[in-house]
Amino acid sequence: MVIKPKVRGFVCVTAHPAGCAAHVQEQIDYVKSKGPIKNGPKKVLVIGASTGYGLASRIGAAFGSGADTFGVFYERPSDVDRPATPGWYNSFAFTKAARAAGLYAGNINGDAFSDDIKKQTLERIKNEMGPVDLVIYSLASPRRTHPVTGVVHKSVLKPVSAPYTNKTVDTDTGVVSEVTIEPASPEEVTDTVAVMGGQDWELWMNALADAKLLASGATSVAYSYIGPEVTWPVYKNGTIGLAKNDLERAARSIDALLKVNGYGRAFVSVNKALVTQASSAIPIVPLYIGVLFKIMKAKGTHEGCIEQVQRLFATQMYNGSALNFDEAGRVRVDDWEMRPEIQAEVKRLWPQVTTATLDSLTDMAGYRSDFLKLFGFGIPGIDYDADIEPHFEFKY
Ligand code: NAI
Repeated sequence: MVIKPKVRGFVCVTAHPAGCAAHVQEQIDYVKSKGPIKNGPKKVLVIGASTGYGLASRIGAAFGSGADTFGVFYERPSDVDRPATPGWYNSFAFTKAARAAGLYAGNINGDAFSDDIKKQTLERIKNEMGPVDLVIYSLASPRRTHPVTGVVHKSVLKPVSAPYTNKTVDTDTGVVSEVTIEPASPEEVTDTVAVMGGQDWELWMNALADAKLLASGATSVAYSYIGPEVTWPVYKNGTIGLAKNDLERAARSIDALLKVNGYGRAFVSVNKALVTQASSAIPIVPLYIGVLFKIMKAKGTHEGCIEQVQRLFATQMYNGSALNFDEAGRVRVDDWEMRPEIQAEVKRLWPQVTTATLDSLTDMAGYRSDFLKLFGFGIPGIDYDADIEPHFEFKY
């Protein structure tokens, strides 16, 4: 079939297998171009491994450090006449490339929040890979079925206490308008913390420790975001920010668990705002990303997920380097985004952005091309008019 992008709001309902494979290969090539990471991870579990930061982490570990990897993700597989979700194609392409390079790559496609998927993952790690020295927790999900209560918690992206009004952009039409987001109810706050907070990360780490599948000195990292004041009401001080505070609480408790179990460490890494399926769903954030990209590209400091993860591994976690914690015990690879001169420029441009000035003041074109790329579209060298088989047999 011929596969074209079909964008519906902040998702694209189609994905191109060859484009996704090329996007994965681009990231592999980047990591290889940076040379090997010394003393890097060797056996890695990535929870949320198929897109965005999790996929980049898996690629960084495998191709930067020769690591065996196990990936957990939740993606719709391909069918005879229906394309898969991009994360499924990405994982297929990654697995093929890793195995061709002689590395172990195992996968489970299912709900990481469930006891059953945890059990299956531990079983396969035990039988096929052995204890892990790095666990990356990179889930971004709109809901979680609680494994004990069976309650379905839904996360929301809302301010807390008061409504918040600011500018947002319709990324399809380029229309900039004001949006008012009503505050979350107390239940919505609790639900968002249940989905995007740290409880599930702790459950994973406890299960791995109980099964003796954590190597001595194992590290675990989960990702967070802080960002500029303009997004604080809907991010840092909003429902998602409260969930991220809970992730930091979990990091401290997992850190203690890993120390008891053999001098390991757990921490939260605060990463840069990037175009991923998760971030495109947050109001106001895409417009901020458009302004930010324009400024960072002009300064030559722009990075994508793979550059962020490569820098985290090479300059903080491995290569003989030491973790550089901020005052709250977090690692910061959002440091270039948060540089005062970058943020001063964001502050200066923000009031001037309108529908009329969008193209000149922001990199909305870059935003759109990154967005389409998430689904395997707009990649040079791919013939998007060609007939392509959407269905593959994936030996997980
Ligand atoms: P993403 O949407 O690209 O990836 C989410 C991953 O979670 C995918 O692999 C998906 O399959 C998996 N997943 C979702 N629900 C699942 C479930 N029930 N079971 C198993 N797997 C499931 O998201 P992104 O942006 O890479 O986010 C990952 C983390 O990085 C999040 O914690 C996010 O807050 C954080 N982060 C994101 C930033 C951004 O700008 N995108 C910036 C800084 C941090």
